[in-house]
Amino acid sequence: TYVVVENCIKCKYTDCVEVCPVDCFYEGENTLVINPDECIDCGVCEPECPAEAILPDTEDGIEDWLEINQKFAEVWPNITAKKDPMENADAENGRAGKKAELSE
Ligand code: SF4
Ligand code: F3S
Repeated sequence: TYVVVENCIKCKYTDCVEVCPVDCFYEGENTLVINPDECIDCGVCEPECPAEAILPDTEDGIEDWLEINQKFAEVWPNITAKKDPMENADAENGRAGKKAELSE
């Protein structure tokens, strides 16, 4: 599976949702997640993210994020259409320490 990681938080560019052939993105207040049970590992979303916030689960140290994706994909609504990014997306892109700011 592919996994949405920290840098999506407070950016939410949503380019990713447009290209996913199985519509497996789910939307929280300030980030998205991928449902690992639905993702078919096609990889097309990875290069679409302007925040480089999508990685394969083969990446070192990604276990925490895989758990977060799994957990919230079960409760957040599905998102399939691109929308405007968050207001300060460009300023938030790349800022460290966003993990603690994930809104459940
Ligand atoms: Fe969707 Fe493919 Fe990205 Fe998985 S890797 S979330 S199936 S676009
Ligand atoms: Fe987030 Fe990147 Fe998608 S910022 S919403 S993973 S395009």
